[in-house]
Amino acid sequence: MTTPSSAYILGLGFHVPEKVLTNRDLERMVETSDEWITSRTGIRERHIAEVGTSSSDLALAAARKALDAAGILPSELTHIICPTLTPDSYTPSTACILEHKLGLNGAMAMDISAACSGFLYGLETARAILALHPDAVVLVTAAEVLTSRTNWADRSTCVLFGDGAGAAVLASKPRGDKSATVMDVLLRSDGALGDFLTIKGGGSARPYALGESVCEDFFIQMQGRDVFKHAVRSMESVSREVLERNGFGVEQVDVCISHQANLRIIEHVGKKLAIPEEKIFVNLDRYGNTSAASIPIALAEALQTGFIKAGDLVLLATFGGGFTWGSALLRF
Ligand code: ACO
Repeated sequence: MTTPSSAYILGLGFHVPEKVLTNRDLERMVETSDEWITSRTGIRERHIAEVGTSSSDLALAAARKALDAAGILPSELTHIICPTLTPDSYTPSTACILEHKLGLNGAMAMDISAACSGFLYGLETARAILALHPDAVVLVTAAEVLTSRTNWADRSTCVLFGDGAGAAVLASKPRGDKSATVMDVLLRSDGALGDFLTIKGGGSARPYALGESVCEDFFIQMQGRDVFKHAVRSMESVSREVLERNGFGVEQVDVCISHQANLRIIEHVGKKLAIPEEKIFVNLDRYGNTSAASIPIALAEALQTGFIKAGDLVLLATFGGGFTWGSALLRF
């Protein structure tokens, strides 16, 4: 059952840190090569945060741009949602810290833990909030400092990730002619597959004792081939489902944005869905995999560069740890 849409994206924004780490830089850090990384992943460089820069710092910069684009004052926000895999801390939440950095208090503020699918989980949460509270103005800011959980000695993961944030401001009514309708969001998960992609260390199931030094399980660990296989399968099926239940054929999709994890995954999903290459937006060559931030960064950049045009039907597809996955349809 689909729900009638009462959610509009009024503005989008993104921010990445200034510092760039190229594949050539990585060649000096681990046994790898630009050729291996480019051919296996499509990634050429990624932006990385300076030590001490937190997810809420990146979130703040992205949120300000989204608020500007929406023509909304921070004081108008009633709800702040931060999907992130790399929160500033267990508590306070990144959303509460962001609220404070925006000079606000009194909003509902919370983080969402859905790994790379976090932004779509945030969009669906925003739709639910707006259905309950039609006067609400919701900020969804996905932000990641993945390099804080990157094991720089593990060449199979450290070449993949980058840092960044992407934000969207949502309301139940459009403002101006630039608002995009959130037509539908469809989310899935399967905890049985969780061990394929983890950051276990420091959680209640794997607590650290005082004085114990961190080990590999403090960082991102991944069975790359299994993640690859499930990502392709899940993003294809959930995309078909969301299109079908809204009465659209694949040929009606104008722009497709998949989670920017690996160019080969993006291409496989596109081929299986029979979406022509020229409709598929890709920016992971410059940003790497920014987890929850990947979709809103891509969405904001696609709009900014004119890849998305007024009237376009945009299909979003995502996949991440948990496993979690999902798809959404937007009309610009
Ligand atoms: N440089 C050079 N060689 C490497 C590197 C590297 N950076 N990493 C691994 N290798 C080697 C391996 O050691 C292995 O060598 P061996 O054959 O001698 O044992 C060989 O390359 C092949 O390794 P695979 O892991 O099988 O390589 P694969 O072709 O599967 O590519 C990759 C690995 C890129 C990680 C791929 O599996 C992948 O992209 N998986 C999906 C990852 C992903 O999308 N994760 C994110 C989704 S969820 C989220 O965003 C958090």
